[in-house]
Amino acid sequence: MTRKYLYGRQSIPERPAYQPKHWLRLTGITRNNLHGLDASFPIGVLTAVTGISGSGKSSLVSQALVELVAGALGHAAEVESEETDMRHGAVGGHISAGMEHISRLVQVNQSPIGRTPRSNLATYTGLFDYVRKIFAGTPMAKSRRYDAGRFSFNVAKGRCKTCEGEGFVMVELLFLPSVYSPCPTCHGARYNEKTRKLNTVARTSPKYWG
Ligand SMILES: Nc1ncnc2c1ncn2[C@@H]1O[C@H](COP(=O)(O)OP(=O)(O)O)[C@@H](O)[C@H]1O
Ligand SMILES: [Mg+2]
Ligand SMILES: [Zn+2]
Repeated sequence: MTRKYLYGRQSIPERPAYQPKHWLRLTGITRNNLHGLDASFPIGVLTAVTGISGSGKSSLVSQALVELVAGALGHAAEVESEETDMRHGAVGGHISAGMEHISRLVQVNQSPIGRTPRSNLATYTGLFDYVRKIFAGTPMAKSRRYDAGRFSFNVAKGRCKTCEGEGFVMVELLFLPSVYSPCPTCHGARYNEKTRKLNTVARTSPKYWG
């Protein structure tokens, strides 16, 4: 499929870029290496801030923008923890326009989305609950009395003992940082052998998937 696009036999219709209707204007931003910087962010479009390392992207976006908008909305800012430690004082500068178009601040950072390293997008959103129920609903699972918990990576009964459901194990090296490698027992499948047998049956039998 991709080939057609690479060779120009098929193409995606071009769409004009969204034009921002409003701008959020920050004036006189002072934080770390930023001294009295004015910056305007378009509202209602996807915006990326780019620049060489150390140019002040995080200072501008993750700190100044977040703190000023949170302040204007009347709640405390949660500045990225990595950058909070050494931060000194309040950010200098103010929002000079556009705040009336903003009603909510959602900050997405790079910290893990769940309590455990076993969390992922599927478990976090609840999608995986359905997958586990499908597994538990197969005739074979029923005959073995495997409930949905059997297919959770957080519960001991179904998961691989070696990696505790993580799919990888940490290898500690003497003088180097630890590395992760695929679990030697489940090879990344995360379930123990009994559970895995059943998963194979469920996966390869479309009739079980309704
Ligand atoms: N908490 C801090 N205290 C003092 N200086 C900082 C702090 N955080 C970043 N800096 C300095 O501010 C400049 C911009 O950093 P940063 O905003 O992290 O840039 P970028 O995200 O574009 O790489 C760098 O020179 C950096 O060393
Ligand atoms: Mg940065
Ligand atoms: Zn394992």
